[in-house]
Amino acid sequence: MTTQRTVLITGGNRGIGRAIAEEFLAAGHRVAVTSRSGEGGPEGALTVAADVTDSASVDAAFSAVEAEYGPVEVVVANAGVTKDGLLLRMGEDDFTSVVDTNLTGAFRVIKRASKGMLKSRFGRVVLLSSVVGLYGSPGQINYAASKAGLVGIARSLTRELGARNLTANVVAPGFIETEMTAVLPEETQRQYLASIPAGRFGQVDEVAKTVRWLASDEAGYISGAVIPVDGGLGMGH
Ligand SMILES: NC(=O)c1ccc[n+]([C@@H]2O[C@H](COP(=O)([O-])OP(=O)(O)OC[C@H]3O[C@@H](n4cnc5c(N)ncnc54)[C@H](OP(=O)(O)O)[C@@H]3O)[C@@H](O)[C@H]2O)c1
Repeated sequence: MTTQRTVLITGGNRGIGRAIAEEFLAAGHRVAVTSRSGEGGPEGALTVAADVTDSASVDAAFSAVEAEYGPVEVVVANAGVTKDGLLLRMGEDDFTSVVDTNLTGAFRVIKRASKGMLKSRFGRVVLLSSVVGLYGSPGQINYAASKAGLVGIARSLTRELGARNLTANVVAPGFIETEMTAVLPEETQRQYLASIPAGRFGQVDEVAKTVRWLASDEAGYISGAVIPVDGGLGMGH
């Protein structure tokens, strides 16, 4: 039986984030999620409003969770967006806005989380990257850059605070069936499917179980790792 923790998941109102919240709830943890509207988390979770592009809003969300549940011990930086386009047509704003949400957003979240983790002498940080971060993907230079950057964050955080009973790991999902992938053209979906050794797309609960395990007592000696949940799509990267 693993210790019950206070867990905060960004973007926990839908998709992978919501599945992660449900997984932690089922294991008996105290779960809070953020959504931009402040609504829509799963039953049993505390839902608070936060936009990860805004430090003040991230700070307010943590304060609300701390008031209810005490310090956040497990943080899952899951909120993310795509704005795909080929390099020649990608405006600078398409690049910086994706990086601001996916990478700088994760920075804002872990910076705020680290205060409580240092005080509690326990911390688990899980960052949602993507197979695309290390594998690359045409039309996703902005997204791939943001997701590759998360590996640097997890590894530097591990070197900074690893001796303080804090672990920081990256989960790199492949093609998971959510709203994010549903909008991809059929031809792109077919091409992905053909290159996935497992021969199928992934499900949100397959990512969620991996995240929950990385935050458990059992995974206490794993840090700075990149764990793929991709049916073999990115093998060797
Ligand atoms: N689906 C996949 O195949 C796949 C593969 C690899 C990695 N991932 C990564 O896994 C994570 C979740 O993906 P998903 O497929 O579940 O995506 P999704 O269904 O599109 O959900 C995205 C979540 O991020 C939140 N979000 C977006 N911008 C935000 C902001 N500025 N501030 C706060 N929250 C924000 C959204 O909140 P709102 O509801 O308020 O918009 C939503 O909860 C992302 O980081 C994604 O890059 C997904």
